[in-house]
Amino acid sequence: MKILGIESSCDETAAAVVEDGVTMLSSVVSSQVEMHRPYGGVVPELASRKHLEIIAPVVNEALKMAGIDKNQVDAVAVTAGPGLIGALLVGFCFGKSLAYALGVPWVGVDHLDGHIHSVFLQTLFPEFPFITLLASGGHTGIYYVTSHTKVQCLGQTVDDAAGEAFDKVAKMLGMGYPGGKAIAEMAADGDPDKIPFPRSYLDKDAFNFSFSGLKSAVHRYIQTHPEEYLGQIPDIAAAFQEAVVDVLTYKVIRAAAGKKCRRIALVGGVAANQRLNVRVRAAAEKAGAAVFTPSPELCGDNAAMIAAAGYYYLKGQASQAVDLASDVYSRVKSPSSAGTLM
Ligand code: KG4
Ligand code: ZN
Repeated sequence: MKILGIESSCDETAAAVVEDGVTMLSSVVSSQVEMHRPYGGVVPELASRKHLEIIAPVVNEALKMAGIDKNQVDAVAVTAGPGLIGALLVGFCFGKSLAYALGVPWVGVDHLDGHIHSVFLQTLFPEFPFITLLASGGHTGIYYVTSHTKVQCLGQTVDDAAGEAFDKVAKMLGMGYPGGKAIAEMAADGDPDKIPFPRSYLDKDAFNFSFSGLKSAVHRYIQTHPEEYLGQIPDIAAAFQEAVVDVLTYKVIRAAAGKKCRRIALVGGVAANQRLNVRVRAAAEKAGAAVFTPSPELCGDNAAMIAAAGYYYLKGQASQAVDLASDVYSRVKSPSSAGTLM
């Protein structure tokens, strides 16, 4: 079954063709980063307009790359939320109309389920059950995944997402937007132990996160060392990154131990962070667990992960008719069971 996936929840317009939930035939991601950069973040109105302008060419490109005609698409899967409403609506309405016109099944996919499914697009992917750390610009949480459609949220951020903290700290340090990659590169030349930034574990037994205190600590450091900090940017970047990585590593390893689970997946834009990968892999090795991370292109927002998740949604769905009344949503659905394992 060839599924056309479409993603437009934030600042990437993406389309992809994936066969049977695992074989990626094409993946096209058109990033709006350059357009938003002067504003230091995503401007929702501009994002929607840009999606509208390029959604059709991006979908055509994905079909062309996959070597298929639109009439060979068996179903369409589109991100329904969470995300920016105006941005989501562009891909959602485009996908729904296309499926309706082609007379094929259509399904709205949760963006977080999409990220979780990015690991299945790799040759080596985890068997169920596995623990997932999803860390991106919009979300950070730990999930216990027992099947393609059964995902239990063990905890999530109570304020900023990890990627958001990277972006805000990068902005404070004058590194531009988005900042995750820039901080990681700068941190490579710094000493993570020179400046003691706080780690917020909240309840050490629970899996919620908080990154706003760390972000404020960096801000305070800059304010109280107005001249000095300019010569310490690599050390600040390294110390900040280490503080984020310490907490993410501790919690994902603890979640795996609590569920007696020996498989860990790292997904979302922050999963591209090398230091996070090194630390989680080292800790997992000690615990006898295997770690699965998608390639960097699949860590960030893309439509292949939406098509992959959509395949399993459709398999479990009684009616595959296009539901014309369905709608997008902006906030995370069922934050549900943020809780303690042990
Ligand atoms: O998954 P994604 O593309 O979009 C969302 O769903 O939010 O994640 C983007 C986020 C941004 O905050 C970006 O700064 C962060 O991922 N990011 C990184 C790295 N590469 C991207 N953060 C830390 N280290 C990186 N290498
Ligand atoms: Zn995302």
